[in-house]
Amino acid sequence: MIAAAEFGPRLVAWQRAHGRHDLPWQRDRDPYRVWLSEIMLQQTQVATVLRYFERFVQRFPDVRALAAAELDEVLALWSGLGYYRRARHLHQCARQLVERHGGEFPRDALALGALSGIGRSTAAAIAAFSFGERAAILDGNVKRVLRRAFAPTLRGHAVGSGAELRALWALAQALLPLDGIDAYTQGLMDLGATVCRARRPDCDACPFAADCPSRGVLGTPSPATARRSRALASWVLLWAHDAATPRVWLERRPASGIWPGLWCLPAHASSDAALRQARELGSVDAHAALPARRHLLTHVELELRPLRVALTPRPRAADATAGWFTLPEALALGLPAPVRRLLATHPLRELD
Ligand code: ADE
Repeated sequence: MIAAAEFGPRLVAWQRAHGRHDLPWQRDRDPYRVWLSEIMLQQTQVATVLRYFERFVQRFPDVRALAAAELDEVLALWSGLGYYRRARHLHQCARQLVERHGGEFPRDALALGALSGIGRSTAAAIAAFSFGERAAILDGNVKRVLRRAFAPTLRGHAVGSGAELRALWALAQALLPLDGIDAYTQGLMDLGATVCRARRPDCDACPFAADCPSRGVLGTPSPATARRSRALASWVLLWAHDAATPRVWLERRPASGIWPGLWCLPAHASSDAALRQARELGSVDAHAALPARRHLLTHVELELRPLRVALTPRPRAADATAGWFTLPEALALGLPAPVRRLLATHPLRELD
């Protein structure tokens, strides 16, 4: 096994030679960019985040701009990244930074961890990258690296138990090097993402291969939750459109559950229920079922069955949670990615 005192320096040297250095949030130590990138990267891969990050900072260049924005605009820019709770917390956190800290980031992990959406590990990453604080990170990838590299140390603890978590945090803290905390922290992330991968780890490229107790051992212990399969759900999406204008009917989703707070086509358990709602919206001219499509969420596999309905709407007072939107108006809202794709690829026009 690797000696604890050797782990940090070796990882720092490896990161400097083989790690990632050109990511847009690594250019300077601006805590705003670091924070935003860490939140985006929580459940999303680097390649995807790269497509969103610059657009986001162009529109919201600093904390004050983000705090002053409407949540809907933040959600619209987040659309497609998924896990929308992150975007709500991000917006809330920007407002907390303005209200409590004069628009500046507090400079230590403990104070950062008191803000919305910033957990212990993310707080440590921001503090290490922006302010050089020696704080330990422990996300899913880091847990896997430590479980493998220090398997004998952790053997007494059931994987995923509270005792194991405490042991992992203590280990993560004990391994911190005295110098190069930013390269070390980035190195742990890079190693977990590119070398010590969950499946098919690339042990030949690992700086710890010579003394890793898990080298060549297939399978890594992981908590049972990681293996839980998804529940299935099937939704008929009522795609009601007013052919004359043309506009589409959208409703805001409830604040909890799937796609919280996003705008969406109304979801129904059956075509009958969807048609019932369509008749309440106006007089139905024609309807047609479109091919179903699948969409994977963390805990749910969704089958989406769009039902396009052309109708002549009844007059209706405007409402904050539902309404008729033109296509450009609809695409400017925070929409779930599959709904955005659906609307964008089928121009609003009369049913054939
Ligand atoms: N995942 C979480 N934070 C990251 C970072 N700073 N670089 C690459 N992947 C990450």
